[in-house]
Amino acid sequence: MPTRRRPLVRVLIGVLAGVLVLCGGGVAAVTWTLVRTTDTVGEVDFVRPLAVPPLAQSRLDDQGRRVFDLLARDGRRDFRGDGRLTRTAGFDGDFLGPTLRAKRGEQVRVNVVNKLGEETNVHWHGMHLPARMDGGPHQLVRPGATWSPTWRVDQPAATLWYHPHPHGATEEQVYRGLAGMFILDDDREAALPLPRSYGVDDVPVIVQDRSFSRSGQFSKSRNVIASIGALGDTVLVNGTVGPYLDVRTERVRLRLLNASTARTYDFGLSDDRSFALIGTDGGLLARTARLTRVRLSPGERAEIVVDVRPGERVTLRSTPPDLGIGGLARRSAGGADRFDVLQLRAAGTLTPSPPVPDALVPVDRLDPAAAATTRRLEFQGRDINGRSMRMDRIDFAATRDTTEVWEVVNSDGTPHNFHVHDVQFQLLSVDGAAPPPEMGGWKDTIYLPPHQPMRIVLRFTDHSDPNLPYMFHCHLLWHEDSGMMGQFVVVDPGQAPGRPPAHGGHAEHD
Ligand code: C2O
Ligand code: CU
Repeated sequence: MPTRRRPLVRVLIGVLAGVLVLCGGGVAAVTWTLVRTTDTVGEVDFVRPLAVPPLAQSRLDDQGRRVFDLLARDGRRDFRGDGRLTRTAGFDGDFLGPTLRAKRGEQVRVNVVNKLGEETNVHWHGMHLPARMDGGPHQLVRPGATWSPTWRVDQPAATLWYHPHPHGATEEQVYRGLAGMFILDDDREAALPLPRSYGVDDVPVIVQDRSFSRSGQFSKSRNVIASIGALGDTVLVNGTVGPYLDVRTERVRLRLLNASTARTYDFGLSDDRSFALIGTDGGLLARTARLTRVRLSPGERAEIVVDVRPGERVTLRSTPPDLGIGGLARRSAGGADRFDVLQLRAAGTLTPSPPVPDALVPVDRLDPAAAATTRRLEFQGRDINGRSMRMDRIDFAATRDTTEVWEVVNSDGTPHNFHVHDVQFQLLSVDGAAPPPEMGGWKDTIYLPPHQPMRIVLRFTDHSDPNLPYMFHCHLLWHEDSGMMGQFVVVDPGQAPGRPPAHGGHAEHD
């Protein structure tokens, strides 16, 4: 009997295998088209002058504080000049917001007015300040209300930024356009021969990707496979589609900010010339690094100085970023995409710029041997250490005036990144190796390649509050909104952590 059955079994197996191969092939083909890559190199018409966010007006009040007003509101904008108005939101305008600027040592106060039809708040990304001024999920501003945080700027010159942070709605609000730059100045930076004429040779470059629906609305369609959030096919710089910048000096400083909700870029110049990397998230580097590419995941910044020759055109471009993953996962996470971002148009005659110095500013190295605690934070799924964000749960307490070492690891096969509030940290190692120069300075956000543990050292100073937490989270905003966030408090020595107030997070006055 078995001898008779065998051919039949073989035929059945053959048919089954054929069906599987066909289905598999079909699924693979469908999948492949679902994760189509985007390549805009050579396709972008650079027809619009780059919009430069205005510097926010400020005034000194009777206590000597520098006071800004920031009004969040809905807007509309025709991004592509085809008459289709996109529904947007912005600060003091239709899209994005003015650049706030303050000097180390100044006391600032920002009146945040909410004219949106929903709750919002403003977080000062990268700023060292008391938790109740931080603009995290516990400082919500009701529609029509005003929230006026005030703090003393006490950290090095840096390119910071601001954006809403209402738990569960951050992606949506940032996507609509609520974000802006916050530049800090100090004497050390001012003493260096660096380009610093705002909007002339020192230019904000806020990069965001968007997709548009047929009617011209932002369409935040999420790739089902990627599960990292929405990736757009059109790049906006400071809200400009197809931007060019007229350069009139031999060197131009670009303050790159990845304000995208999910996409990671690898920025460089179209002819692969090198540029000077002078600063990262939390300030200037100790030494200038000559690079040809700098990778920025959502929330990260880099200050670069680019040399141009008279009369030339060169393009800031993003080439496929190394996400530490391969195959379909890489493609679906934008790891194969290329974008032409911003065209630099050099004038026929350029004003001389001094060379960028090799030595920039002294950077104190934090001492991991002095760490009071070592913590491990594991990013997986939408959880950190197996837990989803809860507004009423403090995950841990750090003690003021102590140093800690955190080992942060992405245990998924997909991208995540890591951001912590209140402090700038230093990277000790990437998967056991010394960090490259672009990751060696002050950072508040880092990309987490899967299965490559990042050891960082942080020091908590000045501000403590046992009840009001700071956040740490994935800055892929859809992940953050879905719960990939935790809360820590900074306590005084010997003090026990309390609990977040049960006020529903409202912190404003009318
Ligand atoms: Cu840029 Cu917690 O955020
Ligand atoms: Cu994530």
